[in-house]
Amino acid sequence: MEMKTFTVNGIEIAYERRGSGKPLLLIHGFPFDHTAWNSVIPLLENDFDVILPDLRGFGKSSSPESVYRIADMAVDLAGLLGHLSIEKAAVAGHSMGGYVSLAFAKAYPNRVSGLALISSQAAADPPERKEGRYKTAQEVEEKGVGAVADAMTPKLSANGEVQKLVRELIQKQGKPGVVGALKAMAEREDTTSILPAFDFPVVLVHGDADELIPLEKSEEMKTLLPASQLVVLPGAGHMPMVEFPKETAEALKLLK
Ligand code: MLT
Repeated sequence: MEMKTFTVNGIEIAYERRGSGKPLLLIHGFPFDHTAWNSVIPLLENDFDVILPDLRGFGKSSSPESVYRIADMAVDLAGLLGHLSIEKAAVAGHSMGGYVSLAFAKAYPNRVSGLALISSQAAADPPERKEGRYKTAQEVEEKGVGAVADAMTPKLSANGEVQKLVRELIQKQGKPGVVGALKAMAEREDTTSILPAFDFPVVLVHGDADELIPLEKSEEMKTLLPASQLVVLPGAGHMPMVEFPKETAEALKLLK
């Protein structure tokens, strides 16, 4: 399907829109683009008006050479919803997309009808993780995006086919976005303190074999969100929407 684009603050944001029903904004993780959701889209389009942006720096959206911030990515998406005349949406983010979803919920709580965090966390990076991100950013500057594909792919899934697909997807991304997003993730805020104030339904989805962000991160969020639903996917790694599309779609339908 052909992508559409619109410009917000001088940044061109590309997006796909599929299906009909309640608006559902699906936000991809790092370092992917909206096609990471390809396997779940057909399972959602009878229930939702699915909006699938490429975050700034990824896919077909602009890749500014400026500093990247998670909060700015949330502003881009508020602009996108405004452009589509959508007042409120269910917001679902995978991993870094979850960080963007949380920044969105912090900035625009009245525009969120429900929230799903897939393989994500509210906690910020501990110092050593932050340092690692800057080292990786340096490596990408020097050697290209392949450096991230090599380092990340084995940690994303134990499934060889999924690894092949995600490696290809990572290699399609450009250097400025990958470097910018690594630094944006390193500098992101801890959003744990905003969780108890959420007054919309929350679904947490996590694989019990996630090597990148452990299941405990969702369990920690669950303790602060007693009314939320935690969906644990046995055997899933960090890419549930690719590894277990049916189960991931079912979990997202809890926001219907
Ligand atoms: C992602 O999958 O979006 C990232 O790996 C998340 C992270 O590195 O914190």
